[in-house]
Amino acid sequence: MTEQDYFTRARVVIHYDHIAVDPARNPAIKAAATLSPAQLGWMIAQYTFLTKAIVGILSTAKENLSCWPEAATELERNIAEELGDGHPDREHFTMFKRGLEDELGIAVSAAVRWPVTETFLGALTRAMSDHRPFVVAGAVYSIEATAVEELKIVRTLIGEYARLSGNLVVRPDGLIHKFLESHICGFEPQHEMGLRQVVGGRLRAENDGRHFLAGCKMVMRAMDNWWAGLATAP
Ligand SMILES: [Fe+2]
Ligand SMILES: [Fe+2]
Repeated sequence: MTEQDYFTRARVVIHYDHIAVDPARNPAIKAAATLSPAQLGWMIAQYTFLTKAIVGILSTAKENLSCWPEAATELERNIAEELGDGHPDREHFTMFKRGLEDELGIAVSAAVRWPVTETFLGALTRAMSDHRPFVVAGAVYSIEATAVEELKIVRTLIGEYARLSGNLVVRPDGLIHKFLESHICGFEPQHEMGLRQVVGGRLRAENDGRHFLAGCKMVMRAMDNWWAGLATAP
């Protein structure tokens, strides 16, 4: 198989074999119509734990790919961006959290990781710690390749929360909007492309391709389970 074939297979794994980032099959979207604003708020707060943990997850991947300089450089760039590129007030998680708290009154700071979120983040860390570099590459690629669709799902859930809560709106000049749109239209497509270039440049042996897809499946399985758990909001 060629490098392109592995990315095509990865797309099938992400968008067809798994349901997490398919808006028609995502369990939280399917459950949204029957959930209360409090349950939707809980779900959105659980989601923020991924945006909070992402720097640690990417750092673990970077450490494990230190033998692979282009990958480590791309991840370093990605991490710096997450942290606001030298401007702590522009740190992505902080921006999202402030927006959710100030505009929609979702108590992100007071939220605690639910076991299903704990399990999910643990699975991501394990995948990024794998001793096989192409498993790590497949895992981290999947995080980036799902981000746009995932954030669109989160945008739908946030809109539903605001609608059900009465007179709340996501302000077009506010932080939630800024966070979502900058990621959907800018950061995330670049993260996927950056990793695709780095990984594609080295994806030669069949064994590497198999490992790449195995990393991809590990993340997608964990993501499906996470969303299924989130959909049963307490
Ligand atoms: Fe980000
Ligand atoms: Fe990203």
